[in-house]
Amino acid sequence: MSKFKYDVGVIGLGYVGLPLAIQATSSKLKVYGYDINEKRVSDYNDGQSSIEDISNQELQKSLKDGLFLSADSKYLSDSEVIVISVPTPLTDYQPDLSFVRSAAETIAQHIVKEQIIILESTTYPGTTVEVLVPIIEDISGLKAGVDFYAGYSPERIDPGNEKWNFKNTPKIISGINEKSLQKIKAFYEKIIDSVVSVGGTKEAEMVKLLENTYRHVNIALINELAILCNMLEIDIWEVVDAAKTKPFGFESFRPGPGVGGHCIPVDPNYLSFKTRQIGKPVRFVELAQEINNSMPNYVVTRLLEKMNLLEKPFKNSNILILGVAYKKDIGDVRESPALGIIENLLDRGVNVKYFDPYVGEIDVKNQKINKEESLDNIKNYDLILVHTAHTEFEKFDFNNITVPIFDATGSSHYQNAERI
Ligand SMILES: NC(=O)c1ccc[n+]([C@@H]2O[C@H](COP(=O)([O-])OP(=O)(O)OC[C@H]3O[C@@H](n4cnc5c(N)ncnc54)[C@H](O)[C@@H]3O)[C@@H](O)[C@H]2O)c1
Repeated sequence: MSKFKYDVGVIGLGYVGLPLAIQATSSKLKVYGYDINEKRVSDYNDGQSSIEDISNQELQKSLKDGLFLSADSKYLSDSEVIVISVPTPLTDYQPDLSFVRSAAETIAQHIVKEQIIILESTTYPGTTVEVLVPIIEDISGLKAGVDFYAGYSPERIDPGNEKWNFKNTPKIISGINEKSLQKIKAFYEKIIDSVVSVGGTKEAEMVKLLENTYRHVNIALINELAILCNMLEIDIWEVVDAAKTKPFGFESFRPGPGVGGHCIPVDPNYLSFKTRQIGKPVRFVELAQEINNSMPNYVVTRLLEKMNLLEKPFKNSNILILGVAYKKDIGDVRESPALGIIENLLDRGVNVKYFDPYVGEIDVKNQKINKEESLDNIKNYDLILVHTAHTEFEKFDFNNITVPIFDATGSSHYQNAERI
């Protein structure tokens, strides 16, 4: 019989923490979720989920099945495993571990012997043993690996992905010593189909950075080729579709208006930060950032060229943006390239509106951007930019409209569109 009331306590109930808490509850664990954001906790307790992958019904079912959510950290003492899934953003382009530090301080105030502490936030290699563990040891006086256990496990959640979810995506795990690793393994095996151990926490931290840097670099490669192919009058989409028929040695990436979300544009900076400590830049990361960051302006240049060909002035033109989320079928606009595109268009005196059934209000340059609630007024625009390939847009027949379309997503749905 365990001395702990909860099998797991989750710190930080956002895109990562809430799905974890819900999965653990449906795996019949006793779960406590803690978040400093009182409003968020109170909404969740009212059955209102603000996390796209978690429906209100799922949340309500978990609450009924015993999921306990609170903005009070005192229940951490009652949790055998504590998983940290707090934000790791960039502040002034530098990794910001302040949320991880404050979570570590909170844990240290409540820690009891035999607890298992797991960091899931994305971060640079070394964080678990150089930042998290020392804070807990210094404040609590307990010894890591002996009095309590610790490790790192990167999160691989992909919002909106219907095939790969929290449970069926293999989970990388690590521990600061063998005993920690075995305890962490036993925990994740209760909630995840396949668990993959790596030798140390630095390796596990690096896995996440490799995965996201790989995407970042390959997206940059295809974006650069898209720009060059346009100049050479080569259809990049036909090239990509043909290349991907190769059954080995090639993974296809598609050009687009840039990268968004809180992973791909952010995480490679954590890698650069670490390598700069040994005086070495990650040259691939820096080049990829330069290319991907230039894509929103490139899109605007292509829109301008299109209007020129139509012999219409750009200034005061009316442009409708279809989709402003950073990826299809979700409503997240964090770091979305659409924001940079809108800012550039506003600077050029263009009247911009957007239509995105997943996204509410957005502000750019402290200005609320006008939104269409339907596509009924589409013929009033001079130009349409398809920014996000939401499946919802496929219900609408774009072949019968005369307004020119520029498609930055390469979707086959817009047959008359000019593509990026
Ligand atoms: N969102 C994704 O798709 C994704 C995927 C993989 C990894 N990650 C990583 O997971 C981590 C969490 O990301 P997220 O998207 O879930 O963030 P989020 O912003 O959606 O949620 C984080 C939550 O942590 C809470 N919080 C902050 N400091 C706290 C503290 N000291 N104590 C308790 N709660 C605290 C916030 O109030 C917020 O509710 C980040 O490191 C991120 O890079 C995110």
